[in-house]
Amino acid sequence: MLNKILILDFGSQYTQLIARRIREAGVFCEIKACDCDDQEIIDYSPKGIILSGGPESVFEPDAPKIPDAVFELNCPVLGICYGMHALALKLGGQVAASEKRQFGRQAIILREESILFGHLVESYNGDKNPLDVWMSHGDKVTQLPEGFNIIAESQNAPICAMADEMRQYYALQFHPEVTHSVLGQAMLERFVLDICQCEADWTPAHIVDTLVAELQQQIGHDKVLLGLSGGVDSSVVAALLHKAIGDQLMCVFVDTGLLRLNEREQVITTFQDHFGVNLIHIDAKALFFEALKGESDPEKKRKIIGENFVRVFESEAKKHPEMKWLAQGTIYPDVIESAGLSSKKAHVIKSHHNVGGLPEHMDLKLCEPLRLLFKDEVRKIGQELGLSKQMVSRHPFPGPGLGVRILGEIKPQYVDMLQKADAIFIECLHEFDYYNKTAQAFAVFLPVKSVGVMGDQRRYEYVIALRAVETTDFMTAHWAHLPYTLLEKVSSRIINEVSGIARVTYDISSKPPATIEWE
Ligand code: XMP
Repeated sequence: MLNKILILDFGSQYTQLIARRIREAGVFCEIKACDCDDQEIIDYSPKGIILSGGPESVFEPDAPKIPDAVFELNCPVLGICYGMHALALKLGGQVAASEKRQFGRQAIILREESILFGHLVESYNGDKNPLDVWMSHGDKVTQLPEGFNIIAESQNAPICAMADEMRQYYALQFHPEVTHSVLGQAMLERFVLDICQCEADWTPAHIVDTLVAELQQQIGHDKVLLGLSGGVDSSVVAALLHKAIGDQLMCVFVDTGLLRLNEREQVITTFQDHFGVNLIHIDAKALFFEALKGESDPEKKRKIIGENFVRVFESEAKKHPEMKWLAQGTIYPDVIESAGLSSKKAHVIKSHHNVGGLPEHMDLKLCEPLRLLFKDEVRKIGQELGLSKQMVSRHPFPGPGLGVRILGEIKPQYVDMLQKADAIFIECLHEFDYYNKTAQAFAVFLPVKSVGVMGDQRRYEYVIALRAVETTDFMTAHWAHLPYTLLEKVSSRIINEVSGIARVTYDISSKPPATIEWE
């Protein structure tokens, strides 16, 4: 049986991060709401349970409690921040609200040998060097529950970490999952590998084997339809399904005319020529340009693109009534965010703008093989399946494509200029080794004419804006501080190589209030 860890979510903004760290340690884990059914927890049969932090105080009237099932499973438990307070209260300790809320980096001293810290005590602060960790809490444990010892202390919280080694219950006031916590990953690894005795078997090769076996079981001899967009997620789904069911997979790729430069050729070369995937590509450029003609309202443009996409996809799909499944590239953060996990503790939910959506009137079952994977895992298994590094590390690209990057009316000649400018920008980012240092970067076409001097002549030509951001969640973002030399090269290449463009600007707005796309 697979080693797995259960993370109960008490609403912390870091819960996803805990899951990512555990997966990085090579151990599979899933997040469930802290108020899920006891039976669900028991049926999950994890090798260990982590109780996340949370925004609330244990003293609030509706403060969430730890489900009884956690203690019935007799497996190791690790409480983090709120999880620590809830654990302490449940087991008979005491918690008090602090006068001062501790937030940010704090120094702690590891006080006693604990299996959780392993050799960290001697090697790190045997001579009482403090260890920097990340705190964010108001409450603190003031009296240990029976059977516990203090294993770390800080100035503000004498009980900064506690352990009952007999029952294998551990609790930390700080957040080991945050990278600012020195040795945090090592502590989480000790918990899942040494204490819970999980094997680090969640490797890309293992994930692929598991998913392939599951897909074969799920799908049997049925046929599966997949809308391939050229983006990372749908590409990985295609490669995975092709490995699992070969010719039973049919991919439909719609060229809306709003794709990146050479994207259509790349998709065809990779999937049809290289992998030998059943691929139908539909050139719908003319249809989209015609439908978008004269429209400059951003919302209406989106609607036109979305509706036409569904129409094209659906009419193709209807030609193949033998299809029983529709595959989609949904990934774990989408599942976590759209489920909100627990309604009470729902975080800010990112709105999803999945292009196309489902062909609603077709009676297709949904197949989402990546729904438990994080993006970095999707990328790793993509490579394991033979996709190129460049393909799996591509920045996100919005469903309506360049339609949201051409302001105002969309015209074929604008798309042409934008595709060229965008390709130059991306090429330069790679050349300067900045592509992977930015989360998303692209060019935007502004349909305004600005003056330029070419030779001796004044010419009025269009403007390209460059956008590059750093972000992990895409809900907030900082503009990327790209080197001037890079920007200089991009600008000079665009002006020289893309006819019709005479001016290049760099967007220095952060989100919020500016969004990442310009629309
Ligand atoms: P904004 O512009 O809202 O974008 O800051 C946040 C992230 O979402 C992407 N985005 C989309 N993705 N379909 C998508 O699949 C869309 O319609 C869409 N609109 C925006 C955007 O590129 C950024 O990564």
